[in-house]
Amino acid sequence: MSITYAEESNVFTLETKNSTYQMEIGKYGHLFHTYYGRNIGDSTVTYLTRGADSGFSGNCHEAYLVDERTYSLDEYKQEYPTFGSADFRSSCLAIQYGDGSRTTELRYKSHRIYGGKYELPGLPAMWGEENQWDTLEIVLEDAHFPVEVTLYYGVLSQYDIITRAVRIENHMNEPVYLERALSACVELQDYGYDMISFYGRHNMERTFQRRPLYHGKQVVDSVRGTSSHQQNPFVILCDSNANEEYGNCYGLSFVYSGNFIAETEVDQYDQTRTVMGIHPTGFRYQLEEGACFYAPEVVCAYSGAGLGQLSRNYHKACQKHLCKSKFANERRPILINNWEATTFDFNEEKLLSIAREAQELGVEMLVMDDGWFGVRNSDHSGLGDWFVNREKLPNGVEGLADKVCSIGMKFGIWVEPEMVNENSDLFREHPDWCLHIPGRKGVYSRAQLVLDMARPEVREYLFQMIGGILDCGKISYVKWDMNRHLTDVWSGILPAERQGEAYHRYVLGLYDLVNRFTTTYPEVLFEGCSGGGGRFDAGWLYYMPQSWCSDDTDAIERLHIQYGTSFGYPISAVGSHVSVVPNQQTGRVTPLHTRGVVAMSGTFGYELDITEMTEEEKEIVQAQIRQFKEDYELIQRGDYYRLTNLEENHEYAAWQFVSDDQKKALLNVVILHARANAPFITIQVKGLREEETYVCKELDITAKGAAFLYAGIPVPREKGDYISFQFHFESL
Ligand code: GLA
Repeated sequence: MSITYAEESNVFTLETKNSTYQMEIGKYGHLFHTYYGRNIGDSTVTYLTRGADSGFSGNCHEAYLVDERTYSLDEYKQEYPTFGSADFRSSCLAIQYGDGSRTTELRYKSHRIYGGKYELPGLPAMWGEENQWDTLEIVLEDAHFPVEVTLYYGVLSQYDIITRAVRIENHMNEPVYLERALSACVELQDYGYDMISFYGRHNMERTFQRRPLYHGKQVVDSVRGTSSHQQNPFVILCDSNANEEYGNCYGLSFVYSGNFIAETEVDQYDQTRTVMGIHPTGFRYQLEEGACFYAPEVVCAYSGAGLGQLSRNYHKACQKHLCKSKFANERRPILINNWEATTFDFNEEKLLSIAREAQELGVEMLVMDDGWFGVRNSDHSGLGDWFVNREKLPNGVEGLADKVCSIGMKFGIWVEPEMVNENSDLFREHPDWCLHIPGRKGVYSRAQLVLDMARPEVREYLFQMIGGILDCGKISYVKWDMNRHLTDVWSGILPAERQGEAYHRYVLGLYDLVNRFTTTYPEVLFEGCSGGGGRFDAGWLYYMPQSWCSDDTDAIERLHIQYGTSFGYPISAVGSHVSVVPNQQTGRVTPLHTRGVVAMSGTFGYELDITEMTEEEKEIVQAQIRQFKEDYELIQRGDYYRLTNLEENHEYAAWQFVSDDQKKALLNVVILHARANAPFITIQVKGLREEETYVCKELDITAKGAAFLYAGIPVPREKGDYISFQFHFESL
């Protein structure tokens, strides 16, 4: 059992392979945090709960009665800080009660420890066997009102993971309003940390950003109704001198696809608090008497050996304990998608010509992107009309699927279920089905509106229409897109006082629908997408094993995007394709080889008109496919190492995969800057065994692992822009 409770000291200790997490019940029943970091065994460190008689940091009532001025919630580290009482720092919970008051002060009531993992109804969360997980539930109650808060802790020892979630239950005989109901608080002793977050925009998601913490609050968030391109719901705090291989690192990943906040505050005593959960902006949840609310899961991970280990923990845990799809651990087909080749301008013949050519080169699946349904010849119309456009596909989707299958390929389709164009049959029939505020002129984005996913009839319509197409049994893949953010969020099925629930109910409705699709059609591979990687989060990963990482397919830009993505998400989740040059987004010209190397560090596929390729290019494509099939296990299941920091090294990018048994490795290098009389590049390989002998076939070098690890390998000098190399290492 990785969780213990010591009655004499009232201390809870959670232990993973390399970390200890500890908390104590204070003498007046408050739950204090004592320690999170490298293993300290079963030692209790309650001596770290320090207070001082400081001005303006108040004392709870019991402490006041005995004049104990050193007992202040404003100074102690806490497990689930609340608003309105003595703690003035970032809080997790703010409740407005029936009398209008807003003070909550939680005290310990009971706890439960058991083997296995808790579940969160209607929400994605990590899962696993009873012998892999342990759970701790701690029940707290407000000192004044009968409102109960249950803190969940799931321990996955092997990957140094502790998950967090919260349940809030109203035992009053009137409703209360949750104005802030976050999922987790992580407290650290001091403030010498850096914060790493992943910002971006459409066409440049998850850009790595690292900065030292300063006093006050630093916030990473989204109020776009979805996790967004602009900030990702994943943050890392690390020692200021931490690097890929060294230092304490703490990750927080939010298993949720809607509005979020990650707020880190360095307080007056130089302590660092991070809270994470649903964004309080636009949120007000009416909790009826007897009702309960679940705050979604946060996956915390610890590494005492730098950022690389932290990422590898997340990669493995997401693959094995988050994604529910059977494809999480299966080889996925190499696909060709027609979007960049044709956009809306295609018909059956065009798609078949791409399929035939692609099949000959080894591609395994054709994906028909946007434009096959309703009247959809541009992005101005058709969304919502999930019936086939017979002008483009005279034999229907099934007819095309039949033909694609008959040439030995699988077939997939694109959908964007959550959206509707005003110019569609669906909107004409049900104008009230979209999020809108009656009488107000709303916001359009890509000429589309958002359907209210909280409405059961909307979900039923989408399931029947899209399910009807999948029922033909010839569709192996669905790309689930979402191409705008939420505005005018008002739901026709909620009364005025419940409109603060609309954002969250949208997400819950969406999860309900996605869950219905993925469980009804378990043989279909679902890929997430939101204008590229606008919904690349752990919540979505629960349902879909991969997401289109970015609409930016430029190989050099992708190096940055995939670098940032790799910190919190497995490589097997990164949707990545080879496209044409000059690249459609940047105009940059990169060699086909390099485009292949970059796309292979993901799900791999093509997004171009293969019928227009030269013979020479087709030969390269064939070789790439062969290569990817050979390296598949290594790339999708192996350990991932970042060898360069792209934000610092502007000469070249290098990253690596190593098999679990350390017998095989693949090192990828892309030269970012062509130079005359270039300096030599030597790269020290990672993850090999020192004593084992390996051969590097591309360099024709046989040496001990130690030589490759410490002396390194010479990267050849070659002329040209954006040259790339792959080096394979195999133990003899
Ligand atoms: C989004 C996706 C693209 C493509 C288009 C179709 O932008 O990210 O890959 O599917 O929509 O409209």
